[in-house]
Amino acid sequence: MTEWKAVCQLADIPAQGARVLKREGKVDIAIFRTADDQLFALHDKCPHKGGPLSQGIVSGRSVACPLHNWHIDLATGQACAPDEGCTGHIALKQEAGTVFLVLD
Ligand code: FES
Repeated sequence: MTEWKAVCQLADIPAQGARVLKREGKVDIAIFRTADDQLFALHDKCPHKGGPLSQGIVSGRSVACPLHNWHIDLATGQACAPDEGCTGHIALKQEAGTVFLVLD
């Protein structure tokens, strides 16, 4: 059964920015908010060399890694061509301003 866990409020996430969910012994999760208030959750780890995607710049539905500027699709975690690689993405839903994730 899918178990949703409330992690923060929409208002906690800056527009075109991200909030980090720290996890003991696991990869941190970055929750991104686009300019039009869509939300996405990815592992906070670039598929290139592990850069912190939460510190990148969100534009449209992608984020530019702050280390070497790879662009990562927020919906899938896939690097945009010509780069190749994928970071984990996490199911997310929003209800009445509260953000929920499915955590392993
Ligand atoms: S670590 Fe992200 S582009 Fe290199």
